[in-house]
Amino acid sequence: MNITNDLVTEYINHRYRPLSSRLGQLRQIGEQDNVPIILKETESFLNMVLALKQPKKILEVGTAIGYSALYFAESCKDAEIYTIEKNEYAARSARHNITAAGLESRIHSLFGDGQEQIEKLRDQGIDGFDFVFIDAAKSHYKRFFDAAIALCEENALIISDNILQRAMTVSDQFDINGKHKTNIKKMREYVDYICSDKTLDTTLMSIGDGIAVSIYRGENG
Ligand SMILES: C[S@@+](CC[C@H](N)C(=O)[O-])C[C@H]1O[C@@H](n2cnc3c(N)ncnc32)[C@H](O)[C@@H]1O
Repeated sequence: MNITNDLVTEYINHRYRPLSSRLGQLRQIGEQDNVPIILKETESFLNMVLALKQPKKILEVGTAIGYSALYFAESCKDAEIYTIEKNEYAARSARHNITAAGLESRIHSLFGDGQEQIEKLRDQGIDGFDFVFIDAAKSHYKRFFDAAIALCEENALIISDNILQRAMTVSDQFDINGKHKTNIKKMREYVDYICSDKTLDTTLMSIGDGIAVSIYRGENG
């Protein structure tokens, strides 16, 4: 189920405008091929957050075909972006799309597991991220988060997408066939974790499929 009323979502999305024709086309391709790129309402929310934050160094876990990475690059003209994708085919498509957009000097597309690739960045001395977008395997958010936060500067924003998982995080009644028990349990643990961590100010929002916005207040909170 959608976590907001379908008519409300339709009303809001009717007013959505893509940032560029390139992004509009890529969204269409993603939707045709059933690639789970960020929802329009999530993107609209990010427009505001990115305009306020103006991040310079962005880390993303979950590239898919590169839609959100390209969106970050287009909306934050000075930002350098590191994006990680575990699926080889998707990573290859993302690189193709990033190169076609001429943005390969600003978007570093990394192939592999999110945590492992973040730890490789750490080993290379790459840190100072001020914006993190977590949008990959839902039951692994905690390990992506822990690896990423170690490379973040104070006041970094960490956005976790799909935290409500079509409301299944809220109640088991929405897991109709009981197929998502593990994912639900892990997501609930993750939400509790980021909401109780004293080094973070976390706000949960029912936008798109649910978003957590965490501000990292530094090691001493
Ligand atoms: C929701 S899609 C990402 C969509 C993308 N952020 C966008 O909006 O355009 C999630 C992606 O995470 C990838 N993924 C799954 N597990 C992963 C992992 N352990 N490390 C990195 N990527 C992973 C999947 O292959 C999938 O392409």
